[in-house]
Amino acid sequence: MDASFWHQRWQNNELGFQLDQPHPLLCQCLPRVLCKQQKVLVPLCGKSPDMVYLAQHLPVVGAELSAIACDDFFAEQQLPYQRHATGSEVCYQSEKINIWQGDFFQLTPAQTVGCQLVYDRAALIALPKQMRQQYVAKLKTLLGQGAELLLISVEYPLHEKAGPPFSVDYAEVCRLFANDKVELLAELDQTGKGFARRRFATGYLLERAYRIRLC
Ligand SMILES: C[S@@+](CC[C@H](N)C(=O)[O-])C[C@H]1O[C@@H](n2cnc3c(N)ncnc32)[C@H](O)[C@@H]1O
Repeated sequence: MDASFWHQRWQNNELGFQLDQPHPLLCQCLPRVLCKQQKVLVPLCGKSPDMVYLAQHLPVVGAELSAIACDDFFAEQQLPYQRHATGSEVCYQSEKINIWQGDFFQLTPAQTVGCQLVYDRAALIALPKQMRQQYVAKLKTLLGQGAELLLISVEYPLHEKAGPPFSVDYAEVCRLFANDKVELLAELDQTGKGFARRRFATGYLLERAYRIRLC
């Protein structure tokens, strides 16, 4: 999925992944990962209402390609913000939520300073297989040892549907984070229900929440 794929989704308002409420696994699992982290990084954040939920607990730093997503987020959430350009990125700044608009893979550690927690819902699973290891490596350059991720992935029979969202199962999560500590926290059986606004006719559909400690 290249940048033009996502820009087109936002231009055409094709937002099947969009939640109207915070994700139930976020609400269930956040207390398990909250401790003394100073800020939470939300890669590929879109205009997710999860950021508003997270901001009740920690300052949020989002990263999102689409300016439409960023404009819509602050307008729909009625949050006053300021916008300023720095190099190839634009920073949207509000009291508790900042979003870097640009390519996540170009972010620098200075832009995510203070983040010791990552919340990933529909970021890893938005990426094709060949980009996932690069995504994990990028997270590691931004965060460093001891940081934690709350990852929400989706699983369905691979041969039944093309992504995104891509199916990323437990075995793949363990492979991607082979040197880290992976713990399955909870799962939600969405079979017959679907993924956010999309209905999937797959044999099974699971959403799983993991706590991952980078070692
Ligand atoms: C499936 S959506 C998920 C959005 C959000 N996490 C949510 O739960 O609603 C994936 C998002 O990643 C953004 N995206 C894709 N590639 C990106 C990149 N390289 N850098 C920053 N954002 C990117 C897309 O524009 C899109 O908003």
